[in-house]
Amino acid sequence: MKSLVHRFLTTNAEARTNNEITVLGCNYLRDAWTNVSLNIISKLGRNLHVTQYHPLSHIRQQIVNYFYKQFYNRIGNSIFSVHDNISPIVTTAQQFDSLLIPEDHPSRKKTDCYYINQNTLLRAHTTAHQADLISMGLNNFLIIGDVYRKDEIDRVHYPVFHQADGVRLCTVQEVFSNTKDPDGLRLFEHRGVESSEKQGCHTLESVKIMEHELKNTLIGLAQTLFGKDIRCKWVEQYFPFTHPSWELEVYYKDQWLELLGCGIIRQEILQSAGAGERIGWAFGLGLERLAMCLYNIPDIRLFWSKDSGFLNQFKFEDPNTMVQYKPISIYPQCKNDVSFWLPEDGSYSPNDFYDIIQDVANHRVEQVILKDVYTHPVTKRVSHCYTIVYRHMERTLIKREVNKVHDRIKQHVTECLHVTVR
Ligand code: PHE
Repeated sequence: MKSLVHRFLTTNAEARTNNEITVLGCNYLRDAWTNVSLNIISKLGRNLHVTQYHPLSHIRQQIVNYFYKQFYNRIGNSIFSVHDNISPIVTTAQQFDSLLIPEDHPSRKKTDCYYINQNTLLRAHTTAHQADLISMGLNNFLIIGDVYRKDEIDRVHYPVFHQADGVRLCTVQEVFSNTKDPDGLRLFEHRGVESSEKQGCHTLESVKIMEHELKNTLIGLAQTLFGKDIRCKWVEQYFPFTHPSWELEVYYKDQWLELLGCGIIRQEILQSAGAGERIGWAFGLGLERLAMCLYNIPDIRLFWSKDSGFLNQFKFEDPNTMVQYKPISIYPQCKNDVSFWLPEDGSYSPNDFYDIIQDVANHRVEQVILKDVYTHPVTKRVSHCYTIVYRHMERTLIKREVNKVHDRIKQHVTECLHVTVR
């Protein structure tokens, strides 16, 4: 992988030296953790979520408008602030430590995240900024931005997507403001025990009121996006940074769709951020999945398209406009197989293979399917056979072009992943 990164980055036009890497105009020292690829770096700064008329920006605006309308102060001003241009380059302290994600948690793995170096990475969720904004003194805010995760390649997975996170912190007066006789009602209790319903430090009554507000708010959001009659269901979930935690699913177009994750913020996070006297809720949702569902967009890669045939279908001022995307045309698929022996040191990871394909094929691969795993009866070496499905979203691929790309993929996997192509 190291040689792959090296190879691509040194051919990139952006200025950089051998031991430095330039991302969004800043230089970073490389180390053994550096695994961010040129294809990924090229996505930084596209800011689809704030691009006028882009479907993701319509979804963003609908969410923002809903929160502006829902929470306002005495004189009718919104109390939610919106943060949608925070740099996606974060520290491991922001991405993991500030959210109580343990040292050995799988989400920290090099095979799952894009690291710039050991301490710096591209955020994998917008929750990475939650503690910073709380430390700055904010109590009600939304964070919207691009997030990066190493992933497989298909119609619904892409290593870059967009999220919106929301946070609301309340004082004891706010929590019990609608209670007839709030005297004696507290947010916190000593020597409480954690249960499935609450954290040890919280009183059950404060958590139940926060849970009620959180769930009502998010059901209201679902109804705003999908319509008044949308069927919703709550599923218990686990996140290291909230407890209790839930997932909201909505029934849309004959299937249950996971819309968002949410919960009561771990008090330890508020304590460390200087808001220990408040209780809070938080949620996070993915914009692409929502937009694909609402606009009937069949492929997540279309969001990156600059084709006017795609973009013009969303050229309207009112973000609440409901349109159904009409595919411009369907292009034929072209399949090629590749088999290789894995290196014996166990260093092979399929995500690195998918990354190479992304880099080399540049939007010409629709799917990668693991077709066969074979262990040699004598040498015990393991081989993988993959079918790579080539298809461009915007034009017909000819066999000659596909063969050329396929050969380059073979060459790169041999050089970078220490596999032996069969
Ligand atoms: N960050 C979580 C995710 O990416 C979503 C989440 C945000 C859950 C905030 C709870 C609270 O899946």
